[in-house]
Amino acid sequence: MIETLNLPLGERSYPIHIGAGLLDRAELLRPALRARQAMIVSNPTVAGLYLERLQAALADVQTDVVLLPDGESYKSLGTLDAVFTALLEKRHTRHTTLVALGGGVIGDMTGFAAACYQRGVHFVQVPTTLLAQVDSSVGGKTGVNHPLGKNMIGAFHQPRAVLIDTDTLGTLPEREFSAGLAEIIKYGLIGDLPFFAWLESQMDALRAREPEALRQAIATSCRNKARIVAADEREEGVRAWLNLGHSFGHAIETGLGHGTWLHGEAVGCGLVLAARLARRQGELSEAELVRIQALMERAGLPTRPPTELSAERMLELMRVDKKNLHGALRLILPQGLGRVRIAEAVSEAEILAVLAGA
Ligand code: NAD
Ligand code: GLY
Repeated sequence: MIETLNLPLGERSYPIHIGAGLLDRAELLRPALRARQAMIVSNPTVAGLYLERLQAALADVQTDVVLLPDGESYKSLGTLDAVFTALLEKRHTRHTTLVALGGGVIGDMTGFAAACYQRGVHFVQVPTTLLAQVDSSVGGKTGVNHPLGKNMIGAFHQPRAVLIDTDTLGTLPEREFSAGLAEIIKYGLIGDLPFFAWLESQMDALRAREPEALRQAIATSCRNKARIVAADEREEGVRAWLNLGHSFGHAIETGLGHGTWLHGEAVGCGLVLAARLARRQGELSEAELVRIQALMERAGLPTRPPTELSAERMLELMRVDKKNLHGALRLILPQGLGRVRIAEAVSEAEILAVLAGA
């Protein structure tokens, strides 16, 4: 069964195809290709598993391939140069299409390369991690890290199609799988209480990777994300909700060095820290906080910040965040279960107290 959602953005609207075995259904990508030329961007891990099938399905198109080193620590401007060099060496024109085959790191870098190459070419997303299937492949945020901050260099550039083959999750390591669950839980927390309750009832099935539970979790997540992006493509309002837990999470990732904790692990912990802050501010009941912590633990995610980072260091890192305004910390915080608010000028003393475990 294939489920196709639509992300409505006028003439830049695009389909999100979700189903088992879709890697062999490359005809679904055809309408997104501007010419019979494509550059698949991947890494050795994912290419070893899935490149051949994707290439076979695109056999009548000139498909060149560039492989980038695997890992968050390579999500940098320096690595991108390899993509531009390959495009130029193989004489790709303004009509080429970049195909991101991999997780969020490959997706974010490929999208950014597409935004820059010859001032902008088409790209499509073929996400192969749970995190990329439920979050990063949808919505057009692309970019790379800078040593001083996560995702600080980038562009909004929407893909022309997203092809989600749920079968690819079969080879995903356990830790990566749990990382994706963090972003799924996030959708429940920011605006979909029935989905949060469904996740509570289905967490064991999800961790056992039961296909129907997974398909539903992915489709509901993409539907939630598409609705929010359609309402606020450039994050001038509600899209900021998607950053719930991310201010804490990005501080963990940057503080430990990109790639030490997985992005989803840092976000999972960040969601719990945001919930603890909301609890201190009286916006969340003890019972609601307990439900959030329990679900995160059942998903196999950390709920305490890394001991290597002091509360003061975390706070210092949180001051470098794209959401902050005029030097004041701005956070997305739960307001009850299934709702969030944008909290302006959050007290640093309160944040320190939460980070210190008070
Ligand atoms: P990742 O891309 O590093 O992938 C995780 C690991 O799994 C890698 O080693 C990869 O090679 C491997 N892998 C991928 N698919 C596999 C498969 N099917 N089987 C076996 N191994 C596989 O990490 P990720 O969690 O997918 O993405 C994290 C990145 O996404 C971060 O850089 C984060 O900033 C970004 N992100 C972006 C957005 C956005 O809106 N653009 C949203 C959330 C996260
Ligand atoms: N992952 C946050 C966003 O897409 O806005």
